[in-house]
Amino acid sequence: MDQAVSGFSKLSKEDKINWIAQTYFSEPEKAVKLIKGYWNSDPALQKLHDEFIENTITNFYLPLGIAPNFVINGKNYTVPMAIEESSVVAAAAKSAKFWATRGGFKTTIIDTEKIGQVHFIFHGSADKIQSFFNQNKADLIASTDSITQNMRARGGGIRSIELRNLTHQLNGYFQLHVTFETKDSMGANFINSCLEQLAQTLKTKAAEHSDFNAEEKAVEVVMSILSNYVPNCLVRAEVSCAVSDLVEKKIENPQAFAEKFVQAVRIAEIEPYRAVTHNKGIMNGIDSVVLATGNDFRAIEAGVHAYASRNGQYSSLSYAEIKDGIFRFWMDVPLALGTVGGLTSLHPMVKFALSVLEQPSARDLMQIVATVGLAQNFAALRSLTTTGIQEGHMKMHLNNILNQFQANDAERQQVKEYFKNQVVSHAGVVTFLENLRK
Ligand code: MEV
Repeated sequence: MDQAVSGFSKLSKEDKINWIAQTYFSEPEKAVKLIKGYWNSDPALQKLHDEFIENTITNFYLPLGIAPNFVINGKNYTVPMAIEESSVVAAAAKSAKFWATRGGFKTTIIDTEKIGQVHFIFHGSADKIQSFFNQNKADLIASTDSITQNMRARGGGIRSIELRNLTHQLNGYFQLHVTFETKDSMGANFINSCLEQLAQTLKTKAAEHSDFNAEEKAVEVVMSILSNYVPNCLVRAEVSCAVSDLVEKKIENPQAFAEKFVQAVRIAEIEPYRAVTHNKGIMNGIDSVVLATGNDFRAIEAGVHAYASRNGQYSSLSYAEIKDGIFRFWMDVPLALGTVGGLTSLHPMVKFALSVLEQPSARDLMQIVATVGLAQNFAALRSLTTTGIQEGHMKMHLNNILNQFQANDAERQQVKEYFKNQVVSHAGVVTFLENLRK
């Protein structure tokens, strides 16, 4: 069948499903059954999900897991995490428990500044545009008053606006670089609305400006958009304890453990190949809470990795040291998050997740998310520098293998019993199952 389709978005949901099923599946009825099997049984709830995006045909599940016992600044949190990777929630929960008895996690908000830019082209003298900007700065800000009114009442709004000259990099390229405080909202819509108004005012005022010649009056706005790079929307998460207190079942020699751990972090600081995987482990924790709380994980990912490259080379987000017998492990991470607006009041599971977190402010959520990222990194490094990652990972992955081979209850029991004291490998489980089935 021809795979090109026109007017797909105008088809009814039923017709979209039929088109997909008939175009891509040899047994279309089975495909339709599968798609509909993932619909919510409550039509109103399904409609809500359908309307989040265009061309929705069904839902795509991710497990929502719970990592309890996170002690952050002395308060206990139970953290919801949406993620498909088998060992992540278990690792978070393990780290949370480990640190709960060693003083817990400490977090600090360093700043909450958001950024947006109006990118424009001005072919004229830099001095003239600077003096135009100085004269019109107050009017530029005032032109956003109706947009910023509610945000200002909540203590937010435009923090600063500055003209940046980047003509040395691109002919005629200037910016209005604007910083914002958006309180409990992530602020994307608010920031973009302000920027588009600023761009409009810039054009109008330039066209009227008597010191500009005809070419200078014709300021060309290229685009107005927030930046997902928010190096000043920053939170610090850390843990520390006496090296001797690190002792537990798998850490018999805490001094050797701490030294090896610090070395592993140093490797991620200097070696980009390792840094990417090291930070990926941190993002396992960060993304899963970001997703569960209805925040934009793509924005977070982009911003975090830019921050990890801020010194010119991609590097570790976390740091570790041993000083005067104290082991300290910490991370600063940029997180522009919201607990109001967006999906937060729409998606029932997001509302649920925010309730489990006891209705956090955006600042609270920054601290929780950073903590889970650090906890995840601790768990990964602890495994990597002691038993190796596969032991825990494969234990959690065992269920996936059993599901893949449609093992029945009796087989599952025997496999789990056998692998209790064995390293789990895909091939090992398959061979064991094959022998059982002979
Ligand atoms: C796997 O999802 C994450 C790790 O590779 C992170 C790391 O290596 O630090 C275990």
